[in-house]
Amino acid sequence: MRGKFITLEGIDGAGKSTHHAWLVEFLKHQGKAVVATREPGGTELGEKLRALLLSEPMHLETEALLMFAARREHLDKLILPALAHGKWVVSDRFTDATYAYQGDGRGLAPEKIKALERWVQGDFQPDLTFVFDLPTEIACERLAKTGSAPDRFERETREFFERVRESYLRRAAIEPDRIKVIDSRLSIPEIKKQLENIVVSN
Ligand code: ADP
Ligand code: TYD
Repeated sequence: MRGKFITLEGIDGAGKSTHHAWLVEFLKHQGKAVVATREPGGTELGEKLRALLLSEPMHLETEALLMFAARREHLDKLILPALAHGKWVVSDRFTDATYAYQGDGRGLAPEKIKALERWVQGDFQPDLTFVFDLPTEIACERLAKTGSAPDRFERETREFFERVRESYLRRAAIEPDRIKVIDSRLSIPEIKKQLENIVVSN
């Protein structure tokens, strides 16, 4: 039986990494074989592309092309083989992030992203996506408290993150069966409960 592909999305600082780790452990306790991964990244080459994407200034289209180059590799080397072997794959971000960040955040035309999406993944989509939703000022405060140096995306303006946040919420409204919005203002235990309920009932 094919495993399930779950993705976690949201603006930087919304709680993806925290709940990604928890969800992977939760699924393992449920007896699933689980692969934890992330984008950009997830493969040796993908992680090299990630390092460039998070640090080097580049043309917006270069940025989108590199995101999809890393994704092509990720699908081929990790995601599709794992699913075919009945494993569950939990990825910290996937293609919704490209529509939100490069599309609505930076202004790349959605039809260009759609063309790359078709090329790289055909009709393939996550089975379930969680969007961690948080007002940008709270996300910013939480990120500041972590004390880690901000990357090229995390240094973006509040307005940029407002557009990214709205983009995710619009996508969730269009695809409510796949994309579940989680209110990240809630406490970590409350969020875990919600994730558990949704995963168990899907
Ligand atoms: P992301 O991966 O989306 O950038 P993180 O999971 O790294 O976000 O969370 C950013 C910071 O916020 C971390 O210090 C984390 O402990 C904290 N955090 C995550 N979720 C919550 C929450 N629901 N309430 C309070 N703090 C949270
Ligand atoms: P992120 O998961 O936030 O890394 P970390 O939690 O370690 O900071 O991802 C890195 C950045 O990549 C994030 O700011 C969003 C950006 N990104 C895009 O702009 N487009 C994409 O398609 C993807 C997958 C990520």
